[in-house]
Amino acid sequence: MGMDVYEYIKNRRSVRKFLDMPVEWDKMSLMIDAAKSAPSAGNLQGWRFIVVTNRNAIRKIADAALHQTWLETAPAVIVACSDVDRYSKYYGKRGNKLYSIQDLSMAVANILVMAEAQGLGSCFIGAFEEEAVKRELKIPESLDVQALIAVGYADEKPPEPAKLHLRDVVFFETYGNRVRRQGIWPLEKHIDKGREALEVFTTKVKEKSKEVVDAVKEKVPEQPKEEVVEESKEAPKQEEPKDQELPEPPKQAPAGISSDVLEQIKQMKKKRTE
Ligand SMILES: Cc1cc2nc3c(=O)[nH]c(=O)nc-3n(C[C@H](O)[C@H](O)[C@H](O)COP(=O)(O)O)c2cc1C
Repeated sequence: MGMDVYEYIKNRRSVRKFLDMPVEWDKMSLMIDAAKSAPSAGNLQGWRFIVVTNRNAIRKIADAALHQTWLETAPAVIVACSDVDRYSKYYGKRGNKLYSIQDLSMAVANILVMAEAQGLGSCFIGAFEEEAVKRELKIPESLDVQALIAVGYADEKPPEPAKLHLRDVVFFETYGNRVRRQGIWPLEKHIDKGREALEVFTTKVKEKSKEVVDAVKEKVPEQPKEEVVEESKEAPKQEEPKDQELPEPPKQAPAGISSDVLEQIKQMKKKRTE
């Protein structure tokens, strides 16, 4: 919380060498849960994830990733797909070409930060032959495979690569304006102040949380351990989300979406209910 999030974001590095150790499913679940908590256009949540741990399959994925053989050391690869048809259906070209990618990128960013927070290394892989990955993992034609994420315990500590300064990427009020207003410039000095404030806040929150946990522990007797039930190999069948459950498209066209696209969506919904 607080400072921790900033540290996780800052310390995350692309890791390309992993220990031969599996990723625990509780950690994997938290990563995917963090991914699906990302914001998404119209709350469409068009992301789909395939967790691959089978060594043979990972080898084939490494081949499809233009022979990035280091990927074979990863104990798990998360294959991030987008249900682009849903985006086209609701938001036309903008949905297909932009929102689907934006949504999935934010979800993937959460995976990377959550990996760091749990002591795992990760690497975003964008260079791969999509059709080969689809074939190997039986991914339907209607989905786009947008990213592969290697995850595991790091067997290297990559140094931070050169990153741009704030002054290189931030302008004031209008593009290109770098006027150094007194009290604002240089932005870096605010980072230090911000870090200090965040540190104080984080310490306070941790102290408070400990107080609450201790108070609860005092009142609640320890629970007996739950019996461990063997997990069935077959995942329980889940109901496919029905189209009718899709969120309503916005009443007004957001910037960049023409009103006739919205009209088309309305017509489609109407037809479906007839
Ligand atoms: C869209 C995208 C595609 C990438 N593709 C690859 C890839 O195919 N192989 C790879 O080793 N790293 C890949 N990376 C990782 C970048 O090389 C890495 O993020 C960058 O060098 C900065 O290093 P850092 O992640 O440690 O900050 C990709 C990153 C992004 C965001």
